[in-house]
Amino acid sequence: MGLHHDKIVINGGRPLRGRVDVRGAKNLVTKAMVAALLGESPSVLRDVPDISDVRVVKGLLEVHGVTVVAGDEDGELILDPVDVESAHFAAIDAHAGSSRIPILFCGPLLHRLGQAFIPDLGGCRIGDRPIDFHLDVLRNFGAVIEKLPSGIRMSAPDGLVGAKVSLPYPSVGATEQVLLTAVRAKGITELTGAAIEPEIMDLINILQKMGAIITVDTDRVIRIEGVDRLEGYTHRALFDRNEAASWAVAALATEGDIVVGGAKQAEMLTFLNIFRKVGGQFEILDDGIRFWHPGGDLKPVVIETDVHPGFMTDWQQPLVVALTKAQGVSIVHETVYEQRFGFVDALIEMGATIQIHKECLGGHACRFGRRNFDHSAVISGPSQLHGADIVVPDLRGGFSHLIAALTAEGTSTVSNVGIISRGYENFIMKLEALGADFHLAG
Ligand code: EPU
Repeated sequence: MGLHHDKIVINGGRPLRGRVDVRGAKNLVTKAMVAALLGESPSVLRDVPDISDVRVVKGLLEVHGVTVVAGDEDGELILDPVDVESAHFAAIDAHAGSSRIPILFCGPLLHRLGQAFIPDLGGCRIGDRPIDFHLDVLRNFGAVIEKLPSGIRMSAPDGLVGAKVSLPYPSVGATEQVLLTAVRAKGITELTGAAIEPEIMDLINILQKMGAIITVDTDRVIRIEGVDRLEGYTHRALFDRNEAASWAVAALATEGDIVVGGAKQAEMLTFLNIFRKVGGQFEILDDGIRFWHPGGDLKPVVIETDVHPGFMTDWQQPLVVALTKAQGVSIVHETVYEQRFGFVDALIEMGATIQIHKECLGGHACRFGRRNFDHSAVISGPSQLHGADIVVPDLRGGFSHLIAALTAEGTSTVSNVGIISRGYENFIMKLEALGADFHLAG
């Protein structure tokens, strides 16, 4: 949306029906853009969504001398890193607080320039979101790290050298950090405890197109043989499975019927199982997936979020809204982020019955148990939500608030919706196309 409006007034109760198309995944596209820094020639990335996280990374690349222009095809970016240079502190700092992506610039910049600087990191306020794994990874490759009040300065006076790296938790970002650093490091890197999300596999596809040698072993082991030179790539980005899951739940919760164009089955296998268990129906089409509510009661489920191939943490927030409509008690145990239930306060205000617990409910003990983190939710349904004035706390929580308002009886005013455009392309136009009853305000 052209964000002159940051508030949406929604009249709930209408089923969403129709088709929306999803493009490249936010969590791949932004990393693919960083990977272009490693090439000696321009890269072409296709299916890039128009979202603010892409604009942030574009800005950061530009201050480092990369030119980023639109290609002929809609959603195509051409990234030319031929004149990469050190950015001025003030230029990088202008992006401080807007994204966590700058940390992934470090490996590529250390290779190209021997130094890197990253400002304080932002991103969604969902737990502490530390960068200790990233810094340890970079130190393993030989980077010298200096913490300043304004950010972190790094250098690699003797170049970066392949290393044995073991992650204490299969972090998506830290795995990407290893990949983006190891491909040009001298010698061999062996990563154990790697994350293997589909977005990471697609980043590996891109790096291989550029000339990298990467082997993905069983048991979360990835081996990378460093090479001297990488070229640009041409790549069509993997679809956004988080956006796809969000619209799927919007169909279910509003008792509607939505075709999500561009969605594919393999990357959504785990989501589809849960969608079916809750009582939703889906059909795999050639060019997307159709999701609908077949009538009757929704059923409660017990789930734990987990790293891939588990149930993604980003799917949890929309799903919780649908679970307020299920007949019985559901449990959602969040094991990836320690604080990802802030968004339920608004649902409770709208009439949902949800309790949050510090204990690990739902099956396994996780690393947040006995550590005072509110990370298990018990949802009792069914509840008829009613309209309220709510303020969006973060990206995924924000989309779940939209779904809640769309299902509620009466009118809701949802504020701070600008955050949602960090990761959902044209969501206002899509809501309109699906027949939602709303107007923009304030
Ligand atoms: N962690 C650390 N230290 C680190 C890095 C991570 O303790 O140095 C912890 C985190 O605090 C968290 C866990 O490890 O508890 C997992 O974090 P991970 O590094 O896997 O997440 P990320 O790379 O920061 C990406 C996505 C998230 C998505 C997660 C999990 C991007 C830009 N973000 O974050 O997406 O939830 O992986 O799949 O790729 C979103 O799209 O809304 C979003 C938050």
